[in-house]
Amino acid sequence: PAEAGARRADRGAFSGRTSFIFAAIGSAVGLGNIWRFPAVAYENGGGAFILPYLVALLTAGIPLLFLDYAIGHRWRGSAPAAWRRFRRWTEFIGWWQVLIALVIALYYALILAWATNYMIFSLDQRWGDDPNAFFGQYTQALSGTDVHISFDVVPAVLVSMVVVWIATIVVMALGVQKGISASSVVFIPLLVIMFVILVIRALFLPGAIDGLEALFRPHWAALLSPGVWVAAYGQIFFSLSVAFGIMLTYSSYLKKRTDLTGSGLVVGFANSGFEILCGIGVFSALGFMAQAQGVQVSEVVSSGIGLAFIAFPAIISEAPAGALIGVLFFGSLVLAGFTSLISIVEVVIAAIQDKFGLSRISSTLWVCVPLAVVSTALFSTTMGMPLLDVLDKWVNEYGIVAAALVSTIVVTYVVRGLPTLRDHLDHRGTFPIGRWWLVCVGLIAPVVLGVSLVSSTISLVT
Ligand code: PFF
Repeated sequence: PAEAGARRADRGAFSGRTSFIFAAIGSAVGLGNIWRFPAVAYENGGGAFILPYLVALLTAGIPLLFLDYAIGHRWRGSAPAAWRRFRRWTEFIGWWQVLIALVIALYYALILAWATNYMIFSLDQRWGDDPNAFFGQYTQALSGTDVHISFDVVPAVLVSMVVVWIATIVVMALGVQKGISASSVVFIPLLVIMFVILVIRALFLPGAIDGLEALFRPHWAALLSPGVWVAAYGQIFFSLSVAFGIMLTYSSYLKKRTDLTGSGLVVGFANSGFEILCGIGVFSALGFMAQAQGVQVSEVVSSGIGLAFIAFPAIISEAPAGALIGVLFFGSLVLAGFTSLISIVEVVIAAIQDKFGLSRISSTLWVCVPLAVVSTALFSTTMGMPLLDVLDKWVNEYGIVAAALVSTIVVTYVVRGLPTLRDHLDHRGTFPIGRWWLVCVGLIAPVVLGVSLVSSTISLVT
């Protein structure tokens, strides 16, 4: 017991609720908010999407967030340790989450490195007239194949990869409060300020109103389509980082007496608020681009890597004061991405630390150095880009959905642990958890997760 006590003392803790809330918002607010939500909302009913989106937030997002908090806080451990204390045999769920975290960290670091480079490229619009061709060359440059590029891009990507990993290692080595929380407390307000300036700038671009009209015009008939509802739940699950093991790990660093449910509500609504702001900013910019090119907004809508590294460079080149838009946009991606990257790396570090009883610094090095080497090496080969697509798809459509589905079923039906967890939450919240929580976690969430797993499998096969 003495040894176990020593091990636990080393785990670190949040100094209070605010530190935890900032760290949790830092994880939730990520690339998913900026480059995923706008296109998902547009394609699934526009303004009408708000309805399924809010229903998904209230009936599954926040309830599952509470579940993550309850498990992490009640059993006080990293994902594998907490699941193991829950029931010995459920430890595998935690390791599954660690595996997913490892995979995400590998390619998230790469995207962050790109965004860092592009923030600098924005200053002189390095991509020239053809951002699409430039991005192709830029990503190939790392694999050293067929590079005809006018500047030395290979060191550029490598240098930013190294910068991203060094920053990650420093923050993680500083620990839960001085590293993770302190950086979120600084970066998240900075992100909000930068993004608000970006949105205001974008709103005054010619054509912005057309973009907003395209995003918010409600297509009520969409509400009859099951696919729209699955998309809303999918966006909410991803956006709140539920079932990644992140929220579970973070809540294990909270003091024994904390308001878990109140914090969960703040995190859930802050994340969705920022997400809607992202929709406004991105579609104002897309409306501008459509007008500049004399096409419909529908023809310029994109998401993910295409939106950030192909569409936005075009917008930046075209818009007055484009460099400012570029620095704000890519700067936002860097800040939002970094606070998510540290949260996903923490899942792995905490697991290793709990398992082997290592110090914070050694577990940070054991996790981050190999990750840094593998991610840099992997994406320096021609396999890198196709691999990124495969990993991203696997993680999002199967990995996380399966983790969430298995956890809700195991907790509700196999172990029948929901009443204990509800009791735990009831004693640590500003409001009592009603029976609705049992219905959301035990019924609504597994049904939706099951349906989305089946529908991605069907679309894979056909
Ligand atoms: N909630 C994050 C987002 O919306 O981007 C999801 C996430 C992705 C968290 C990747 C952490 C991470 F490393």
